[in-house]
Amino acid sequence: MKVIAVEDYEEMSRLAAEIIQSKVQSVPNAVLGFATGGTPIGTYKQLVANAKERHLSFRMVRTVNLDEYVGISAEHPESYHSYMKKHVFEPLGILPENCHLPDGEAEDLVLECERYEKVIEQLGEVELQVLGIGQNGHIGFNEPMTPFSSKTHVVELTASTLTANASYFLNVKQPTHAITMGIGTILKSREILLLASGESKRLAVNILLEGKADEKVPATALITHPNVTIIADYPALGLKE
Ligand code: F6R
Repeated sequence: MKVIAVEDYEEMSRLAAEIIQSKVQSVPNAVLGFATGGTPIGTYKQLVANAKERHLSFRMVRTVNLDEYVGISAEHPESYHSYMKKHVFEPLGILPENCHLPDGEAEDLVLECERYEKVIEQLGEVELQVLGIGQNGHIGFNEPMTPFSSKTHVVELTASTLTANASYFLNVKQPTHAITMGIGTILKSREILLLASGESKRLAVNILLEGKADEKVPATALITHPNVTIIADYPALGLKE
């Protein structure tokens, strides 16, 4: 694991955007794996700004997302479909037919998980998978004790995850379940970029950096992967500026 310590959120975002962008420059039809949540928003903004400034095309890029809430429609303002459309797909001009997310409204969720796993397989290798990290060490929505070999599956979100995301659902019912790529699915990516910013991630990041794989902290599965870069800011690392 390569660990890059940066001063703050802005520096993390700038660096992450450069890494994603050089991937697209070297492999224009790359399959990119994207995360949602607060952490990568700055990265996506920077990526959009760089793409405009440097005339970088995303027309051939294909994307897969880590997860989607169960029981909310793609059009729901807090769905990950909406998030991606707003922050990534539309501003970068990625073709809708090349964007893949699990369907949280599928009638048969088990079949939907199987379908999504197949979609990822058929796209070929995910060239670069972007990850955030939960306060409890989750990646995607793989909560503690998820087997490292897991494929795409339905999860019940833990109290810690529900609390961390409650502010997005102030006036609407908060989903309690999600479909997530499994840890095994994530580990098949050629390269993984994990972003961590802020004090609230310090504990999870420190456990990850201890370098011992333990299913209690899902992110520690990354220790077994040959090509992982972590960009973490000083607060996430527990370092003073
Ligand atoms: C989002 C995802 C989650 C988040 C994690 C951190 O697609 O899979 O694992 O990356 O919950 O969320 P933020 O960035 O909001 O702290």
